[in-house]
Amino acid sequence: MLFPLFRPALFRVDPERAHRLTIRMLKAAPARRPPEPGQLAIDVAGLRFANPLGLAAGFDKDGEVPNAMFGLGFGAVEVGSITPLPQRGNPKPRLFRLVEDRAVINRMGFNNRGGEAAAARLARRPRRSGARGGVLGINIGANKESADRIADYAAMTRLMAPLADYLAVNISSPNTPGLRALQDESALTGLLDAVFEARGAAGPPVFLKVAPDLEPADIDAIARIALDSDLEGLIVSNTTVSRPPLRSTQARESGGLSGEPLRQLALERLRDFRKATNGALPLIGVGGIASAEDAWARIRAGASLVQLYSAMVYEGPALPGRIVHGLERLMRRDGFTSIAEAVGSE
Ligand code: FNR
Repeated sequence: MLFPLFRPALFRVDPERAHRLTIRMLKAAPARRPPEPGQLAIDVAGLRFANPLGLAAGFDKDGEVPNAMFGLGFGAVEVGSITPLPQRGNPKPRLFRLVEDRAVINRMGFNNRGGEAAAARLARRPRRSGARGGVLGINIGANKESADRIADYAAMTRLMAPLADYLAVNISSPNTPGLRALQDESALTGLLDAVFEARGAAGPPVFLKVAPDLEPADIDAIARIALDSDLEGLIVSNTTVSRPPLRSTQARESGGLSGEPLRQLALERLRDFRKATNGALPLIGVGGIASAEDAWARIRAGASLVQLYSAMVYEGPALPGRIVHGLERLMRRDGFTSIAEAVGSE
């Protein structure tokens, strides 16, 4: 792979421009075959994933390159977050590489070209059938200036349900003021009622994406509501507003922290949710995963699926393929014959 050669040049460019360039290259790259469902295939929420590794939301906010990302080896790609109306997001700079910490801080603020544009683009996407096409998740959010955020989620559910293999309801971005209050007990029940009514009986499964910055009482309440609802999974977790010890000069930028310094916190939250749900709800583990060992540890801790974003910045496009191959080896080493068997086995 050429990434190690390009990395120094890419890292001299402002991170947001580097990201735009990356998306443009991915759009132009010839289509590669998505992964074949093999030994690592797993069924979650009625969907067959060719392997448990997914691309986390925020990389492909407008749903421009899901097929190219399947071609890199991801079994699932979660596009978004997408809001009903187009939105510019926060003033720049708003994306920071913390190279010494293998981390990222972002306060993008749901910049995206809006629901209609994304829906039109995704409807034109060439699709293969079954797990060979890769699982497409669509992550939905609310506009910053919206007077009724729950209505935004309902509208996005209606718009995206026909196009998504699953929907991810993101109420855990730290960069839209007040958004995370939707994780509170009464608000969450109202939100989920509205989403499931908008989805209807025949729609795709819905996952809820939560923050890592939750108290034990919040975790218990969210787990209880999730189990009482039609939710089919929890994505644990989004970026953190906490600041573990960091070395980079940009450590004090405000926004959500992701990458290596989030790994332990996200792993602990996953364990908390595993315990609180008694293994009765599929969990998607995300935060600081950068290797097959990290992905394997998350699966052993209770994740049926895992996702990553920040590590791609540092490791490049060969990373998903490396992790998938590594997972196969670790599964055999530990005497498992399927991923499902290993989930929560620690
Ligand atoms: C994100 N993330 C994110 N999550 C989400 O639900 N909607 C979004 O729009 C975004 N946007 C976004 C932008 C950038 C630049 C980053 C780095 C992250 C969060 C992401 O999906 C993931 O939950 C965290 O980044 C933790 O995983 P990693 O990056 O440590 O693997």
